[in-house]
Amino acid sequence: MNATLSTPAAPRGEQRARAFDDGAAPGERADGGAGPIAKGGAPLLDLRGIRTGYGRIEALHGLDVAIHPGETVALVGANGAGKSTLLRVISGLQPLTAGTVTFDGDNLNRRKAADRVHRGIVQVPEGRQVFAGLSVEDNLMLGAFSRRRDKGVADDLEAMYQRFPILKEKRRLHAGNLSGGQQQMLAMGRALMAKPRLLLLDEPSMGLAPLIIEEIFGIITELKREGITIFVVEQNASEALAIADRGYVLETGDIVATGSGEALLNDESVKAAYLGG
Ligand SMILES: Nc1ncnc2c1ncn2[C@@H]1O[C@H](COP(=O)(O)OP(=O)(O)OP(=O)(O)O)[C@@H](O)[C@H]1O
Ligand SMILES: [Mg+2]
Repeated sequence: MNATLSTPAAPRGEQRARAFDDGAAPGERADGGAGPIAKGGAPLLDLRGIRTGYGRIEALHGLDVAIHPGETVALVGANGAGKSTLLRVISGLQPLTAGTVTFDGDNLNRRKAADRVHRGIVQVPEGRQVFAGLSVEDNLMLGAFSRRRDKGVADDLEAMYQRFPILKEKRRLHAGNLSGGQQQMLAMGRALMAKPRLLLLDEPSMGLAPLIIEEIFGIITELKREGITIFVVEQNASEALAIADRGYVLETGDIVATGSGEALLNDESVKAAYLGG
């Protein structure tokens, strides 16, 4: 794998991330932008020059990220790097100060969060955020809110119970009674009920025991096989990069490296910083 170092003198937000060659022919570079592209054609999600912050503090300094249909892409980075902020930008929960969010060819900058869900951008938030006082089943049904007139909802609920048998068993219980792993499954099930075209997962493994983490990544791999486009944010970089087609490394608001999941896993500086050496 070839690692291309960024120009150190480049101004903040305009520096090129180190890009790892994934073997794609130059002609396959559909967007002409930084970073390798695993699959040809137009990106499903195209983020350009994304800047945002909290008050006067800028959290993202001009990021470019492209995700192609069917890809699983991981965003890894330390605490406070801006991972959740980027997901909230995509979901329409965090306003931009510069840049564009393009989904399926449409500029979404002026589109509200609910409209984005309707278009198929569905987020599983950090910390699951299930409705603790509602039943498991009501939580799942809330996921289908944006398609409540769709006659397929009942079938999808049944399909969700096939996928997550434990949720069927506990469907009448308050979601607050579930374990952390079960709540993560519920949050993922709730998102799937919205029929996502792009599933955004924010730290799905956070706070879970190792065996449960394996189970959660197994579920993500299954969703990937089913062809759902996935953008997964993780501090657990090794697990996330292992299942991802491509990855981006985010460091205090800048993408500092990008490449195939495998290339990033094997990169010395990524290993040193995020994979425990
Ligand atoms: N609501 C907020 N108000 C002010 N600053 C915020 C707010 N949310 C995040 N920040 C700051 O923005 C930066 C990016 O935060 P963000 O939550 O996006 O990081 P993260 O990569 O998701 O971190 P973590 O791994 O802890 O979830 C941090 O410096 C954080 O302190
Ligand atoms: Mg976060």
